[in-house]
Amino acid sequence: MTGMGSTLDYRVQPGTALVGRIRMPGDKSISHRALLLAALAEGESVLEGLSTGTDVSAMAVALQALGTRMEAGAPGCWRVHGGPFRAPDRALDLGNSGTAARLLIGALAGCPFDTVLTGDASLCRRPMRRIIAPLQAMGAQFEAAPGDTLPLTVRASAGLAGLHYRCPLPSAQLKSALLLAGLRAAGSTCVTESVQTRDHTERLLEQFAGPPSAAATRDAYGYTVCVQGGTRLRAARLQVPGDFSQAVFFIAGACLAPGSELRIERVGMNPSRTAALEVFRAMGAAIEMEGEAVLSGEPIMTLRVRHTTGLHAASIAGELAARAIDELPMLIALSACLPGCTRLRDATALRTKESDRLQSLQEGLQAVGIRVEGLPDGLNVYGAQPRGGVVHSHGDHRMVMAFTMLALAAAQPVRIVDCDWVQTSFPGFVGLARQAGMVVQEQWGQ
Ligand code: S3P
Repeated sequence: MTGMGSTLDYRVQPGTALVGRIRMPGDKSISHRALLLAALAEGESVLEGLSTGTDVSAMAVALQALGTRMEAGAPGCWRVHGGPFRAPDRALDLGNSGTAARLLIGALAGCPFDTVLTGDASLCRRPMRRIIAPLQAMGAQFEAAPGDTLPLTVRASAGLAGLHYRCPLPSAQLKSALLLAGLRAAGSTCVTESVQTRDHTERLLEQFAGPPSAAATRDAYGYTVCVQGGTRLRAARLQVPGDFSQAVFFIAGACLAPGSELRIERVGMNPSRTAALEVFRAMGAAIEMEGEAVLSGEPIMTLRVRHTTGLHAASIAGELAARAIDELPMLIALSACLPGCTRLRDATALRTKESDRLQSLQEGLQAVGIRVEGLPDGLNVYGAQPRGGVVHSHGDHRMVMAFTMLALAAAQPVRIVDCDWVQTSFPGFVGLARQAGMVVQEQWGQ
């Protein structure tokens, strides 16, 4: 976010302990799905605790353009009056949000009108072929920019046919797009994946429609979930749990800063999201959990993190890399500050996120004096104390937050350039970091 040509930089002071009790913003993945399913459901849904980031706002604005009546309450609270979509009178601009774009492509396939979807420069580079190809097999039609990217038109359709699809890559956005299209298709639509990705769509369908008609099953290949075309969705009241992916930044900060003792309350602990905990444990981190509860079909817990000595680097590969995909920037930045070599493999998916995260991580770590070797699908990182320096966000919210926390372990302050991208997922990030004890100066410049 570089409005009017100016950028926001952070200057982060090393060494300050993270202490006290904090709460994370509403989970971004669940917030997108809750808004979209509420828009498709009959009646008035009441949603609380949604992410207030610009990604989820882009979803809300797009749904309004599709005719959904929505009333905003306190921040993160919406009353949504669901019903059939109508043709929008303009292109839907999804900003930086891959999740909004891909879920909406699925939900709009099968609608009797054309819709144009677009986004910012980063989103317009991200691959959409993975979604378009199986939706075409269901009968949907698209016109995409060269390379199957946005801007993309979802063509009016006279109807879709159900599909049984094996995902060639682990992607919750792909699975969810097909399930959403399946709600409008004739017959059943089943999606099988070999690595179980986040299952928030499946859980929310239970809140809006009762159990998915063929409940999730496992076969020899993996996990299969099915929906029946024509399933009626009914309004629901939901509270969104705190975002585990955002909690990971604060867990890592507490691991890095001596004296830290942090409670992170009411964090979403859906097992399809918490693979990063396996990596923290492999590093020797002290994380305790308590107070298990369920919020809108999702498990939540309070996490207690204490700084301990003797942490060491941990390598990440295979299925673990896929299951912790959004947490890899922070996990690698943390591991880079610990003794030992971090080998990251099987993480090619990082190249097509908000930035090329393998490249952004490599450049950022090198900028603070860490030795890194880049590989097509990962990195070798030789752990050492970062010396401080200037790191670029590459327009990526997770780079901003990962390097803000890495700075806690540095010998000198770290300046991070172009930080306003944090607004996409976590507008309160700096406020919360300061509340926990960090010293972060913000500076607008050219
Ligand atoms: C998401 C799925 C993941 C993840 C993204 C959010 C979702 O993307 O990286 O931040 O909410 O479904 P992929 O589906 O591309 O793996």
